This record gives sequence, C-alpha cells and structure tokens, in this order.
Amino acid sequence: MVRAIEWIDAGTESHIRLLDQTLLPGSETYLEVSTVEALIDAIQRLAVRGAPALGTSGGYGVALALHEGARKGWSVDEVKQNIDAVANARPTAVNLAWGARRAEQFVAEGFERVLAEAHAVGREDEQANRELSRLGADWLLAKIGDRPLRAVTHCNTGALATTAWGTAYGILHELHLRGRLELVYVDETRPLLQGTRLTSWELKNDGIPHLVEVDGAAASTILRGLVDFAVIGADRITANGDTANKVGSVALALACERKGIPFVVAAPYSTVDEATPTGDEIEIEERSDAEVLEFAGVRAAAEGVRAFNPAFDVTPHDLISAIVTERSVVEPATENQPLFPAIS
Ligand code: MRU
Repeated sequence: MVRAIEWIDAGTESHIRLLDQTLLPGSETYLEVSTVEALIDAIQRLAVRGAPALGTSGGYGVALALHEGARKGWSVDEVKQNIDAVANARPTAVNLAWGARRAEQFVAEGFERVLAEAHAVGREDEQANRELSRLGADWLLAKIGDRPLRAVTHCNTGALATTAWGTAYGILHELHLRGRLELVYVDETRPLLQGTRLTSWELKNDGIPHLVEVDGAAASTILRGLVDFAVIGADRITANGDTANKVGSVALALACERKGIPFVVAAPYSTVDEATPTGDEIEIEERSDAEVLEFAGVRAAAEGVRAFNPAFDVTPHDLISAIVTERSVVEPATENQPLFPAIS
C-alpha cells in the first residue's frame, strides 16, 4: 500500500517524506521536506492532501518545527509561530490543526516525545480507517442487501488521503474484499481532478472495477438508478452532523435523498469537530481563479473573467443517511440531537 506521508529518521537530516500528489498518476515522485516553509508549501499546493493525511502532517509538522528550530537556533516564540503556521496552512479540514495541537502539547517534554505523539496520530488513523471500513460495509450490506453493490464516490479518500488504507475508499475496498462490490462511479472532482488522477489510480492498483465520470453526471447517475449508494469522506463534521467535503459532494446528497438511496459519510473521529455547532460556522477555503479558468495550464476563459472557487461545500445533516467513524455508525437524518456527545 502506498504511503502518502512518513517521518524519515536520519539524525540531523531527519525530515518528512511526502508522495507528491500533484504529479500522480504520471510520476511517483517523493518530496523530502526538511523545513516548515516547504511543508506549508506542499500542503497549500495539495502535494499532501486529504483530511486525515493533513492530521498526520500537522503532527509531523510540529516535530519538524522543533528539529529545524534546533538547527537554526529559533527562540520559543519562533518555534510557536512556525507551529501555528502549519496548523493554519489550510482552514477547512479540522484534522490539520487537531494533529498539530495534539503534538504541540508535548513541546515542553522535547522532540522525542513530540515525535512519538505524531507517530501515534498516524498509527491511530490507520487503525480507525480499518475499523470504520468494517462498520461501514456491515451497515451498507444490512441496509441495502447482502449482494454486490454499485457505488458513486467523490474526490479521493484512499491511502493517499490518509496515513493508510482510506475512509470512504476503505469501505469500498472492504466491500470488494468481501465480494460485495460490483462497480464504482468515480467523480472526476473538478478542478484538481482528485477523482480522475488519484482515486482511479488507487482503484486500478487494487483491482476494483470503476468508471470515471464528469462531476456533472453524478446526480443523473444516481437518479437513473445506476448506483445503490454514495459514499464520501469529510474534512469537518460539526456537532449536529453537518459535513464539509470537496465541492460537489452536496449534489450527490440531494440526488440520493430524491432517489431514496443511502448517502454515507465516512471519517475517523478526528474529523468530528464537536466545538463547532453547525456547518454554517465552517470556514470554506477559497482557492485561486487559475484552477478554474485554466485547463492544464492553458487559459480556457476569456481574459478578464473571474472565478468563484470554493474548495469545499457543506452537506446538511438531514441529507446524510449515515456518518461512519471507528466508534460507531450514527444516522443524523433520523437520530435525536445531540449526535456525538452521546458516543464520546
Ligand atoms: O482539497 P483536498 O484534496 O484536500 O480535499 C480532500 C477531500 O475533500 C476529501 O474528501 C476529505 O479530505 C476526506 S479524505 C479521507
């Protein structure tokens, strides 16, 4: 299985190794990241991406800040500023700041303790993903029927987006291993093509039958009865079950509700943000005009045209059939509030 992020132990040369996801599937190139500035650049360019992988990046980012700070003689304040810069490199996925703050609480105990915590963030993510995949597959087969299912998914939620295994992708993988997955429709995921470039690459490597479709086809694929359910990941799940994920996700939820089929959100519990009451309070990252107005580096829109480029959208909880974490499956559309304190 591919590793999107790893800490490389090499004494004074210790650093983070990232698989550069901007170059996939054409080239498997690794970035050797030894400064906080380079890590932030990698996060903002989406060389490393996906909420759980960002959580691990946050943890290792704190270790990196201590390591670089020791080399360069940073003051305590400078180390803190660099940790904050990592935690705030992208705003929507709660995991990034969560991973950074979890490691940061051990700064006073020194580098080795911080690194141990960062490793724990990654290790627990893999365990969570494997457990939620089992729970999600069980729920779907009980809900829909114990037979090969057809799915639609959006963006990339596999090993690339996590420390290992995957979330929504992990459920699809689990169904495949049980012989209960017929076909996956993969949304291309405009404008950066995480579906076309990354999810289809992972599905191909895992031998899972799939078709890539344009994002605009997804609602119709659902309404025509071509799939039995939709499953996506999440960047932030608020206390009431509202969920931020890659822009385009809410269209799938609306179509699933109309068709009467399950719309499932899968994420490790680290993506649940109990401190934020509803999706209205989630900060949605807005990215550059060029991502929308250019195609493969060539301008597609007339000069002077501006873009609206929100990277995420929010699906209201009443459109979500199930939120699957490693702890449990909750059904926000039908359950009484509050949703998460009941299981934490
Ligand atoms: O902008 P990205 O590629 O970081 O967006 C990723 C997503 O929206 C994923 O669906 C989400 O982070 C869950 S990854 C398991």
